Amino acid sequence: MDQQANHFESHIAELNRRVAEIISREKISGLVIHSGQPHRQFLDDLDYPFKVNPHFKAWLPLLDNPHCWLLVNGRDKPQLIFYRPVDFWHKVDELPDAFWIEHVEIKLLSKADKVAELLPNDLTHWAYIGEHLDVAEVLGFKTRNPDAVISYLHYHRASKTLYELTCMRKSNEIAIQGHIAAKNAFFNGGSEFEIQQQYLTATNQGENEVPYGNIIALNENASILHYTKLASQRPDNRYSFLIDAGANFFGYASDITRTYAFEKNIFSELIEAMDRMQLELVAMMRPGIKYVDLHILTHQKIAKILVDFDIVSGDLQGLIEQGITSVFFPHGLGHMLGLQVHDVGGFLHDERGTHIAAPDAHPFLRCTRTLAVNQVLTIEPGLYIIDSLLDGLKQDNRQSQINWKTVDQLRPFGGIRIEDNVIVHVDRNENITRDCGLH
Ligand code: GLY
Ligand code: MN
Ligand code: MN
Repeated sequence: MDQQANHFESHIAELNRRVAEIISREKISGLVIHSGQPHRQFLDDLDYPFKVNPHFKAWLPLLDNPHCWLLVNGRDKPQLIFYRPVDFWHKVDELPDAFWIEHVEIKLLSKADKVAELLPNDLTHWAYIGEHLDVAEVLGFKTRNPDAVISYLHYHRASKTLYELTCMRKSNEIAIQGHIAAKNAFFNGGSEFEIQQQYLTATNQGENEVPYGNIIALNENASILHYTKLASQRPDNRYSFLIDAGANFFGYASDITRTYAFEKNIFSELIEAMDRMQLELVAMMRPGIKYVDLHILTHQKIAKILVDFDIVSGDLQGLIEQGITSVFFPHGLGHMLGLQVHDVGGFLHDERGTHIAAPDAHPFLRCTRTLAVNQVLTIEPGLYIIDSLLDGLKQDNRQSQINWKTVDQLRPFGGIRIEDNVIVHVDRNENITRDCGLH
């Protein structure tokens, strides 16, 4: 916690600097950031799990407190309107006794619908930042989530403060406890569901707390990119295990994937080759490098691995141009990471919000930005046996370039993905996943 406390003041100073700049440009008085409201389930008296507005948790590690508000104008101490109802049904959060308290001015709110009494009298020149536009309208906000402000904040959010970097290292550290437990559970014969339980216990995070639904896939299930079902049955045969799981620390996500072979065989060799390739890609991350170029380079490296393992034949460039590498590696190389797993801003090229889309041939790439200092990104190449995509090759003469025997041999293993979280520094990069001891 000391690490976060030491850097918090400069974090708030940086956020204030950003707000000061954009509100003076947009001629507004400040931002009123709403933590959010619970969402009710249809025809029920239960709410969905609460997910806080990311613009709110950027300021404070308060993740589970609906009906809270932050007033920031880039100059004064941020004001926190903290919701503390009189309620004997639910647990009422007391104001945390936390290091960040001294950096905010606090007002207590006991009835959510009485917030107007604590907000500025005239809200005409304040911008509402949040999800509940109807609430904002009733309160009298004229400006709600203005594009210029949102683009500016999203563009700059890619550059993490030192406080944010400490949070992201910590969220890697926590996730890795889970990954080690999950790996052991796999080798000890656990089902997907049992492995998930071990993961959550080791991270001490519930399934609504971790930043996204864990992917825990045994055998062929590893070929399903977004496999979030958790089979409780232990499979008869154990070939492979793919786990894509993160953790949350102060609202910052980690996003880590590992793939294991149960025995030494062609699949374990393929994992080793993919691992070497992944590390080569990580080693190339530097300020000024275009993320799209790394993604395209990944296709060249995948082509080489496909040929080396006798999965396909042909010249490497041809394999890319004919879309054959995309059948085995159909997703993007990775994305920005931070307050959200797929952090915003991956396509923003300036603070005005100029959008550069992914190249047509790579529609699932989530980042087209040029790397810069203090950005955090994932690098997550993959190689899968996906029958629905392979079927497409059977429709034309590309099928002759596929060694179907090797494909059949690999099918029971599903696929491979290896994903690390990396901080870009001036003259090096920092692989925060491997540095925590996960290899
Ligand atoms: N876990 C989601 C992703 O890797 O992007
Ligand atoms: Mn992932
Ligand atoms: Mn990812």
